[in-house]
Amino acid sequence: MEPPSNAPRSLVVVGLQYGDEGKGKVVDYLARHFDVVVRFQGGTNAGHTIVTGDHTFKLRLLPSGVLQGCTVVIGNGVVVDPQTLREEVEHVRAQGFDVELVISERAHVITPLHIQLDALREAARGTGKVGTTRRGIGPTYSSKSSRWGIRVCDLLAPDARARWDAFVGAVRTQVEGVHSEPLAVDTDEAFRSCRDDLEALRPMVGDSGRFVHTALSEGRRVLFEGAQGTLLDIDHGTYPYVTSSNCVAAAAATGTGVGPLFVSRVLGVLKAYMTRVGMGPFPTETNGTQADRIRERGHEYGTVTGRPRRCGWLDLVALRYAVRVNGVRYLAVTKADVLSGMETIPVCVSYELDGEELTDFPADPAVLSRVRPVYTELPGWSLEEWCADTTATDYTVLPPELRGFVRYVEECVGARTALLSVGPGRSATVRVPGVFEEATPHA
Ligand code: IMP
Repeated sequence: MEPPSNAPRSLVVVGLQYGDEGKGKVVDYLARHFDVVVRFQGGTNAGHTIVTGDHTFKLRLLPSGVLQGCTVVIGNGVVVDPQTLREEVEHVRAQGFDVELVISERAHVITPLHIQLDALREAARGTGKVGTTRRGIGPTYSSKSSRWGIRVCDLLAPDARARWDAFVGAVRTQVEGVHSEPLAVDTDEAFRSCRDDLEALRPMVGDSGRFVHTALSEGRRVLFEGAQGTLLDIDHGTYPYVTSSNCVAAAAATGTGVGPLFVSRVLGVLKAYMTRVGMGPFPTETNGTQADRIRERGHEYGTVTGRPRRCGWLDLVALRYAVRVNGVRYLAVTKADVLSGMETIPVCVSYELDGEELTDFPADPAVLSRVRPVYTELPGWSLEEWCADTTATDYTVLPPELRGFVRYVEECVGARTALLSVGPGRSATVRVPGVFEEATPHA
């Protein structure tokens, strides 16, 4: 079926840096304008904290819109840890929220065996470690590509045990044959627990593609919520220091099971500075007191692993690239408050390598780790006074230096800012007049 002739009512929200750009907060803010919120890639390596009234939720798999009354969908592109998902559903319900969830029967399942493989593969890399979240993400995606993975529909089939045994045989070959280690998982217990958790979720399991396709065809508004960030994308990121899925906007179609024309608008989220967890090149990384100040003020510690995040300045070479590979038209700039009080803000405008100027983001991490960022200094801003009035949501009363920073970024990358976040609370999100309305579908 064709998408409706009036542009489909969808929006994809993606991260434009190394993850942790504040997508959870942006999606939480936007969700009330949508009927359905869909996760399409990644797994329990993602994590965000949402505070609503007295409740604090730490979600890894459930899309953020679950707390705004949206129907939520876990697409086929997501890798699902059944225990985590069941616990999240039960926890959210126990706090009095309805959970209307569709879980793709095609999604691959993360098992304790994948988690053991994640640790073994990291150990085998020696000094070339990726610094994964150790949640079994890479091995689950690689078992999928290698065609010995196990899916939600396998574990709910009448012959689930036979399918599981074949899967265990394939993992055993990896663990014992490749890594010369014993399988350290009680495979009977792992089967029982994965299957029990999925049985508990069975009423929600179905064809996510059909569900989302029908929703869009009937004119309902759908938000696709990306996890991780473009520079961690398996194809477009700083390979091999990346996650194992496509995090870019196009993955919203493949990871859900709808055609690309159903994915109409792309909003990219960036922090006013940058962070990275795990290993890999990060040209604008800074150390010492400036990094410590950003880390402490911005609470830059991993949500899933608690690791301190590496901190650095905004890299416009990388951002221009991320805007291009995602087809981003709208931006959400977050954490502008963290830089408040600095006299000037360094922004990387190009790279220099062996005396040559580079304006494109290099494919080779060895090149990327040798480039020298060329900075321009933009005037800093102070938000102390503005933040005291937490009800103010008027873009025009923001400090002119901050608006100047936003304009500079927009001109460099060719996209328009729809939202600006100047603090952790929901009320500290400013809509840019005109652009926000254009970016979000009308009811
Ligand atoms: P994996 O996704 O656990 O395989 O980890 C691969 C790389 O992606 C590591 O550098 C992780 O730190 C990073 N990573 C994965 N998920 C996230 C995320 O949600 N935010 C930031 N970094 C992430």
